Parts: sequence; C-alpha cells; structure tokens
Amino acid sequence: MAFSEPKIPFNEVIIIGAGFSGLAMACQLKRKLGCDDFAVFDRASGYGGAWHANKYPGCGVDIPAALYSLSFAPKTDFSCFFPKQHEILHYINSVVEDHQLMSNFTGHTEWVGASWQESSKTWHVNLKDLHTGQEFTRECRILISAVGALSMPNNSSIPGAERFKGDVIHTANWDRSVSLRDKRVVVIGNGASATQVIPAIAKDAREITQFIRTPQLYLPGQNTTISNLWQSAYKYVPGLLVLVRIVIFLYLETATLQFRRNRTGANMRDQQFLVSRRYILDNAPEKYWPLLISTTEAGCKKRRVFDNDGYIHCLNRDNVHLIKDPVVEITESSVVTQSGQTYPADVIILGTGFSLAHFDTSITGCQGITRAEHWQSLGGIKAFNTIALSGFPNMFYVLGPNSGTGHTSTIYAIESYVDLIIRVIEPILKKKASSVQVKASSEQVYSKKIEQALQKTVYNNACPSWFIDKKTGTNWAIYPWSSFWMWYTTRAAGLDDWILEVRVSRVLNKN
Ligand SMILES: Cc1cc2nc3c(=O)[nH]c(=O)nc-3n(C[C@H](O)[C@H](O)[C@H](O)COP(=O)(O)OP(=O)(O)OC[C@H]3O[C@@H](n4cnc5c(N)ncnc54)[C@H](O)[C@@H]3O)c2cc1C
Ligand SMILES: NC(=O)c1ccc[n+]([C@@H]2O[C@H](COP(=O)([O-])OP(=O)(O)OC[C@H]3O[C@@H](n4cnc5c(N)ncnc54)[C@H](OP(=O)(O)O)[C@@H]3O)[C@@H](O)[C@H]2O)c1
Ligand SMILES: *[C@@H]1O[C@H](CO)[C@@H](O)[C@H](O)[C@H]1NC(C)=O
Ligand SMILES: *[C@@H]1O[C@H](CO)[C@@H](O)[C@H](O)[C@H]1NC(C)=O
Ligand SMILES: *[C@@H]1O[C@H](CO)[C@@H](O)[C@H](O)[C@H]1NC(C)=O
Ligand SMILES: *[C@@H]1O[C@H](CO)[C@@H](O)[C@H](O)[C@H]1NC(C)=O
Ligand SMILES: *[C@@H]1O[C@H](CO)[C@@H](O)[C@H](O)[C@H]1NC(C)=O
Repeated sequence: MAFSEPKIPFNEVIIIGAGFSGLAMACQLKRKLGCDDFAVFDRASGYGGAWHANKYPGCGVDIPAALYSLSFAPKTDFSCFFPKQHEILHYINSVVEDHQLMSNFTGHTEWVGASWQESSKTWHVNLKDLHTGQEFTRECRILISAVGALSMPNNSSIPGAERFKGDVIHTANWDRSVSLRDKRVVVIGNGASATQVIPAIAKDAREITQFIRTPQLYLPGQNTTISNLWQSAYKYVPGLLVLVRIVIFLYLETATLQFRRNRTGANMRDQQFLVSRRYILDNAPEKYWPLLISTTEAGCKKRRVFDNDGYIHCLNRDNVHLIKDPVVEITESSVVTQSGQTYPADVIILGTGFSLAHFDTSITGCQGITRAEHWQSLGGIKAFNTIALSGFPNMFYVLGPNSGTGHTSTIYAIESYVDLIIRVIEPILKKKASSVQVKASSEQVYSKKIEQALQKTVYNNACPSWFIDKKTGTNWAIYPWSSFWMWYTTRAAGLDDWILEVRVSRVLNKN
C-alpha cells in the first residue's frame, strides 16, 4: 500500500493566479460555500495580477470603475471615472483585507504542471518556488486556473538588445528606479499601454521617439473626476451606485452589435471609424495623419483604444516624434530602423504587449490524456462555456478559452464564470459527490455553436489577429455573444451538461 509515501499537503481548492479572477474565486468560495480550505499561488509577490504587474506611468482602466469592480465589493469613492493603477491595486488590496485572504496566498511560486489522480479523485499540482528553484507538489480536490492572458511580457526579440547600455523596460515590468528625466526615450509599440505611457512621461523625458507598426482605432476619451458630493451620494443613497453600474453596463452593451457581420454592425463600425478619423484630424499634427488613421475594420484586429490621457494631442509636442519604420536592430546607444536611420536612445520602452503562453502548462487528465492532446483532438484551444474540458474532472478556468469580451468590463465575465464554477463544484465541496466533469457531447455541441457564432462576427474575418491560433486557425480568445446570454448561461441555465460522480468507495468501505 501507499503508507510509506510521504504525504502531500492537501487543500480542498487550489487557485493559480491572484488577479481579479483568482481573487473573485477566493472571495466566492468563502462567501457562497463557506470554504476556507483553499490556497492561492502566483508568480508575483502579491494579489493584483495585471494591476500588480503594470506599474508604468499613466496605467489605468478604460472601463468606468463603477463597473470595473466586484459586484459584491462596491467602492463608492473612486476618484474618477477611469482611475489609475494605484487606485485599482489599492481597491484589490482592500478586498483582500476585507475577506481575509492574505493567509491563503503564496507568492513567487510558479505553476508548472498538474495531473489527475483517478484513485483519489484529486489533482496533484506541481509548483516551483521562484526564490529557490525548488519544485514541490500539492494535492487538491478542485483546481482553478485563473492565470489571465496578459501576464507574460512579450519582450521584443529585436537583435542587439543585450548590447544596449541603457535600460530596456517593458510596460508590464516597469522599473520605478529608472528615471526618465532628460532622457532620450524610444517607445516600441502603440497599443493601449503605449498610448497611456507616452502622455504620462512626455513632460519628463528630453525626447520621445515612438515606433508605430499598425494604427489603432483611437477614440476620444475623457478623464472626468468624481466629486466628493457624488462619492457621498454613492455611499449614502441606497441603490444609486448599482443603478449607475446598470446604466454603464447597458450603454457598453450596445457595442456588441458593432462586431456583427451585418448591415447594423457595418454601419456602427463606419460611424466609429469616422469618429476616430475626426478625432485625429482635429488633434494630431497633419504629418502624422497617415500613420494614425486606422485602415483595418474596427474590432477585427484589436480593442478600440480610448485616449483618456491626451496621447493624440501630445503628439504636437516638440519632443515627441512618431515614426513608421520598423526597428531592426539595437546598438549600444541607439536603435536602427529598416530604412537605415539611427535614433540615439538612453532608455527603450517596450509597449509590445504580451506573449500568449498561458495555456502551455502541462496538464494530464483522465487516462493519461494531456490537455494539449485533448485540444488537438478538438481541433483547437476550446473549453465548454469557457470553464471546463471533458476528461479533466474538477478542473476549471476563470477567463478560459473564448472568454474575452472587448466591449465591456472583464470583471463582469470573471464574476459570471466564478458563479457558474461555484454552482458546479458545490456538490464536491459539500461532499455529496467526488468529481464533476462536463459531458463530452456537450463540449462538442458547444464547440460547434461557438464556431458558428464567431463566423457571424468581424473577429474571425477581414484580417488576421493575435487571437486566431496560427496553428489551427481557430479563434480561442473572443466570446461572440452578448453579456445577457453570458448571464443566462452562467446563472440561470440548468446543469444538465455536467456529470457528477458520486463517491461510492467510502460507502463500500463501511460494509
Ligand atoms: C495594463 C492593462 C490594463 C487593462 N485595463 C482593462 C480595463 O480597463 N478593462 C478591462 O475590462 N480589462 C482591462 N485589462 C484586462 C485585464 O487583464 C483584466 O481586466 C483582468 O485584470 C484579468 O484578471 P485575471 O485575474 O484573469 O488575470 P491577471 O490579472 O493577468 O492575473 C493572472 C495572474 O496569474 C499569474 N500567473 C499566470 N500564470 C501563472 C503560473 N503558471 N504560475 C503562477 N502564477 C501564474 C500571473 O502572475 C498573474 O498575477 C487590462 C489589462 C492590462 C494589462
Ligand atoms: N485599460 C486600458 O486602457 C488598457 C491599458 C493597457 C492595456 N490594456 C489591455 O491590455 C492588452 C495589451 O495591451 P498592450 O498595449 O500592452 O499590448 P498590445 O495591445 O498587444 O499592443 C502591442 C503593440 O506593440 C506593437 N508591437 C509589437 N512588436 C512590435 C515591434 N517589434 N515593432 C513595433 N511594434 C510592435 C504592436 O503592433 P502591431 O499592432 O503591429 O502588432 C502593438 O501596437 C490589451 O487588451 C489592452 O486593451 C488596456
Ligand atoms: C486561509 O485563510 C484562513 C484565514 O482567513 C485560514 O483559516 C485558512 O486555514 C487558510 N487556508 C489555507 C489553505 O491556508
Ligand atoms: C520577459 O522578460 C521578463 C523579465 O526579464 C521575464 O520575466 C519574462 O519571462 C520574459 N518573457 C518572455 C516571454 O520571455
Ligand atoms: C511579440 O513581439 C514580437 C517582436 O517585437 C512581435 O513581432 C510579435 O508580434 C509580438 N507577439 C505578440 C503575440 O504580440
Ligand atoms: C444584425 O444582427 C443583430 C444581432 O443579431 C440584429 O439585432 C440586427 O437586427 C441585425 N441587423 C440587420 C440589418 O440584419
Ligand atoms: C483632465 O481633465 C482636466 C480637467 O478636469 C484637464 O485640465 C486635463 O487637461 C485633463 N487631462 C488630460 C490628459 O486630458
């Protein structure tokens, strides 16, 4: 028997990732199921995920915080509509404190693998202490992958970076000890991160040279502050903040129509394109118009970029330059472009986004089948209702494949999936069943449905994008339906797609 084997530390639930997804999961385990026996692991040193990692100047949200916050932990005193990173991180830490989640957290720990143990109906979870490099194993009944998509910086692979004498900083790996005062700064990339960082550093730096590759759909933003009066009203008028949340939610939801491949969608996209174009013509120097005006269809490539911080206007500054000429090499003190130009640099900021490696961890489910094999047989990276795979009992994703909504608060999706997971795992944690998994037939039906739905959107058509898997051609990032449908499928729909396995071994042992 297995008596001589060293006992592996056990928790009912293990959560990987301490961003909003892991945080919401931990809170709801406590609030809804009264479960205290869970452990949260993260590579980072604390809770926060994206908001712990992204400390670049200007970093903030582009969804009003009244909606970009947890429904069960409303915050009445956000200072403005689109608060900055420190305010969001502060909010996250206050939720951690209110729910007493600190003692469940272990940082500097990387999840490196997991395997399903059929005999005990548990997961063995392989982890690595990033301080010591030591690997260790933990056991749990329920495994939650809340690893996010945007956490591994995509460090530029531009040749010569190692020769550079100054600092190379990725926006998601900001080094606050590096001063930009009077420095010549090169910024590579022009996503939402670069768009926020440039206006925030433009006054400090001696010179900023930004290298743009593909124009974004820049849209006018705003930076409305929330007065003390409103903050008090949110605090003391019952239901006001909820009402504001609902209004913002409904307003943002109208945008789903614009991703449709029909007349309505096309009209809305045309409209948005015109707004973006007008914004640039009115605010940017004429020489940059051809570089900035988007030629791709809205939404087919990436999220709209809301210019809440005055990026477009900032391009009028004498010390800010926009260049469309790919950087091909980095030397000791400059970057060299394809056309042979040399631009001296003291600091290089990479606003080059993230490498999407969050589904690479090796996981072995029933009958020794790996997650990679399972996805290969399904024809791509997919999950039933974004949360589960058949043959992988008791394992769930928060923000799994096809959970991405570009038009509204990600927290809404996170809370929806957490609620569904809570409903599905309740019998396990209440010891009424030993395992739960989605039916293979349901997984296949869902997979067909989502493919058909995606075909009706612009995401799958018109132009290539990072959310189309290059190997299989499937779109594994985007959720094609409305938030109302998400609500129905997670909160209201029955649980017929799930198979519960009732623990029989105990009962048998008794006899
Ligand atoms: C700068 C920035 C601004 C954003 N602004 C908005 C916004 O305004 N509105 C909006 O809706 N969305 C926004 N997003 C998207 C944002 O990612 C989500 O809103 C949300 O924060 C995702 O939370 P998460 O917990 O799922 O993922 P994350 O916050 O990315 O957390 C995942 C955590 O898992 C950890 N992790 C991953 N893999 C492992 C592993 N193998 N081992 C151990 N730990 C691991 C990571 O270290 C990370 O801490 C923004 C993203 C960024 C980067
Ligand atoms: N709330 C917010 O306002 C906010 C703030 C930051 C981030 N976010 C979200 O976080 C996600 C990531 O945003 P991000 O801006 O960090 O990354 P991103 O959207 O992936 O943008 C990366 C940018 O870098 C460019 N790039 C990559 N390699 C390059 C190279 N070698 N040369 C030139 N350009 C290069 C890309 O150009 P190509 O387009 O040509 O590939 C793109 O413009 C997005 O979903 C975004 O919405 C939101
Ligand atoms: C989680 O934290 C609570 C205290 O808030 C503690 O009682 C519990 O033992 C912790 N669980 C784990 C697995 O650390
Ligand atoms: C990017 O660089 C950071 C810091 O050096 C590192 O932690 C991370 O693993 C790198 N990302 C990739 C995809 O190599
Ligand atoms: C990562 O960076 C490289 C080099 O800068 C770039 O070519 C590539 O498009 C980026 N990958 C993603 C997934 O953004
Ligand atoms: C486009 O699709 C949406 C959503 O299905 C629908 O509400 C709308 O009426 C359609 N528009 C046209 C012109 O068919
Ligand atoms: C933000 O709003 C204030 C007024 O409320 C304004 O003075 C400031 O210029 C705005 N900042 C940006 C970056 O738009």
